[in-house]
Amino acid sequence: MTMMPLLQMTNLSIGYDKTLVSNVNLEVGRGEVIAVLGPSGLGKTTLLRTIAGLVTPLEGEVILNVNRRGGLGYIPQRLGLVRHTSVWTNVGLGAMVSGLNRLQREEIIAESIIKMGLEDKIKEPVRRLSGGQQRRVATARTLAQSPPLILADEFLGELDDDNVELVMASVLELVKKGSTLIMVEHHEERAIEFADRIWRIVDGKLVEE
Ligand SMILES: Nc1ncnc2c1ncn2[C@@H]1O[C@H](COP(=O)(O)OP(=O)(O)OP(=O)(O)O)[C@@H](O)[C@H]1O
Ligand SMILES: [Mg+2]
Repeated sequence: MTMMPLLQMTNLSIGYDKTLVSNVNLEVGRGEVIAVLGPSGLGKTTLLRTIAGLVTPLEGEVILNVNRRGGLGYIPQRLGLVRHTSVWTNVGLGAMVSGLNRLQREEIIAESIIKMGLEDKIKEPVRRLSGGQQRRVATARTLAQSPPLILADEFLGELDDDNVELVMASVLELVKKGSTLIMVEHHEERAIEFADRIWRIVDGKLVEE
């Protein structure tokens, strides 16, 4: 049996009214960790949003061999949390698309919250949490979903070194079980530490290093 790549980008050009990155031809398999680097405003977020199907390609295509609902976990740069509801409810949104039954969902929600060190905040509305805590809620939501493809946009931002370790250890646990992580990172050292592959946006191209 031949294995389809998890993600294929063929002759892909991305952007809005103007092209940001053109002619991307790359394949991604299961269990890979990829870091996307490049200066602000060049299209890193747009790349993730295009892969997620939230932005239409200008040319070419994205072929995703996962189900876009449960199979894709997106941690947006602006987190996309429901700010007036609790940590539990927000993490529950991830579990909701996981296909688990109610009891299993409650278990994985609790487990994900504990892994992110937020057990004291379970009932707290998200808007009352700090920036770094909110980032961990967004990660817990994705842990509860356990999707085959995780797109994470600067999800380590605002976290101190201990929390970076905590978050990465949990996400890399999913990677060990076969999930793929594509992470946009501003810190070069973190990218090198955690990623198997590095993609950098240079002169409107996505260059693999
Ligand atoms: N919805 C949109 N419509 C039109 N242009 C947009 C839209 N979103 C972003 N842009 C533009 O596309 C360019 C790339 O934005 P993007 O958010 O992908 O950059 P980025 O590499 O993620 O930057 P940062 O590191 O600051 O997050 C920017 O010039 C931005 O103004
Ligand atoms: Mg961005």
